[in-house]
Amino acid sequence: MTASSEATDQAQAQSQAQSQADDGPDAARILVVDDEKVIREILSEFLSLEGYSVRACEDGEKALVELRLRPYDLVISDLKMPRVSGLQLLEKITEENINVLTVIMTGFGTVESAIEAMKKGAYDYILKPFKVEEVIHVVQRGLYRQQLQAENIRLREALTIYKVSEAIATSLEVDHILDVILRAAIDEVDADVATLHLQDPKTGAYEERTKKVNQHHEVSLPGGLPTPSFVLLTEQFTAGAPVMAHGLKASRYFTESQPAEHVVSYGSVPLTVGGRVIGALNVFSFTRGKKFDEGHRKMLAVLASRAATAIDNARLWDDLRHTNDDLRTANVSLEENFQTTVSGFSQALEESDVYTRGHSERVATYAEIIARGLTLPEPEILRIVKAGLMHDIGKIGIRYDMLNKPGKLTPEEVRVFRTHPEKGKRILDPVPCLHGLIDGCWCHHEFWDGGGYPRGLKGHEIPLVGRIVAIADAYDAMTSDRAYRRALPHHVALGEIDRCAGTQFDPELSGAFAKVLEAWRDEMRRRGEESLIPR
Ligand SMILES: [Fe+2]
Ligand SMILES: [Fe+2]
Repeated sequence: MTASSEATDQAQAQSQAQSQADDGPDAARILVVDDEKVIREILSEFLSLEGYSVRACEDGEKALVELRLRPYDLVISDLKMPRVSGLQLLEKITEENINVLTVIMTGFGTVESAIEAMKKGAYDYILKPFKVEEVIHVVQRGLYRQQLQAENIRLREALTIYKVSEAIATSLEVDHILDVILRAAIDEVDADVATLHLQDPKTGAYEERTKKVNQHHEVSLPGGLPTPSFVLLTEQFTAGAPVMAHGLKASRYFTESQPAEHVVSYGSVPLTVGGRVIGALNVFSFTRGKKFDEGHRKMLAVLASRAATAIDNARLWDDLRHTNDDLRTANVSLEENFQTTVSGFSQALEESDVYTRGHSERVATYAEIIARGLTLPEPEILRIVKAGLMHDIGKIGIRYDMLNKPGKLTPEEVRVFRTHPEKGKRILDPVPCLHGLIDGCWCHHEFWDGGGYPRGLKGHEIPLVGRIVAIADAYDAMTSDRAYRRALPHHVALGEIDRCAGTQFDPELSGAFAKVLEAWRDEMRRRGEESLIPR
């Protein structure tokens, strides 16, 4: 085993976990719903033999409880059942936005009832009596389609977040960033209008900061756009409840000055800075049948968090500029922008990710300890610290549920994970003042013996900052809890780094790290900061 370069460590921890699991976490989950015991048994048996993870219920009511309890990929349901029928089950699934594919079985020999079910959102139907192969074929086709859809959504999410991150990287103009975010909001949820409202820090009043209209839709709003009432929104946000309302129910979120009867669907997510709501990202649909759902809300929440960071950074910078005229000199402004961009970036990454929270900062700390131990010049030390903060910035386009997946990473996921050094470089490339940080992002997964990635550099071909961050990164990854394993003790982590000196890590730096780290731990203990030291 190599020391914990995250991907390999993760893959190994997961392959062990996988072999212990019964069905394996990747088996598609199917729920069979039929009041006839024989049918439940036949389907359960055959589908299990095909490798699916199957459960069965005898009526729609029980099925609904089961569907609320755990995620399923597909439901095969009889139409005619006591209490809650197949059609009613379908209606409930749509109403509650449960993300599952439904296949209906009908025993009447009438295609009409099957068609009725398809109109209500069923994916396919099976006529009873059925052949088992036929059922398996329908299931396979349905799951394949669903998988394609999921891939497509994931790709779009990653791309949008990547685009937004790139806008933040290439532009320090808050207006431009907000523009990109609103456009992404419109595209992602197919809204007719999106607005961003902000609270004026002085007066407390909420004002529309910017608005975008979907270019592909024609919407006429005779009474103008309804104005969100922020007293109500903030109440809802602080209660932790999302704001997603359709039709007349939406009108309670608007002030009364404008008519709201044209609103088909309305969604709003908070912009939060330091735990305080500073504004909201709103989307409106005036198109019949176009409602926002939970997936849309999640996407909006990610965009809103990026917007909040950009605004927060811009405000800090504005305050600074207004309080001190000397800071207007080009050099200082560049340096300030640089600082806020760096911290904004690492914040954006960590906010979304509970397991790696604090990772960038700790890697920066360990990298600084090593750099100081080498008695490098002060500007070089500062550059290494910032490179430590930014080293994983390329992960910003990778879905964080994949980064922290407790199950096994598929070869495709490992491939995606391994793109993060290259992506980090691409994010920083367009920003001249961030060029000094590229090596830290690009080269922290290279191995001393040439076995690393992305370029397979060897020995001193790997820039010093890359070799330093590699050690800092591995030490922190090993001594922190992750989704797939608990933290390793300090001495075990250090032993791993020593064992991999000369293969994964620069041997000289590994030796130096053990010494300077010990001195740092002593110093932290003296200062009473034991909580910062891995046990
Ligand atoms: Fe990394
Ligand atoms: Fe890392």
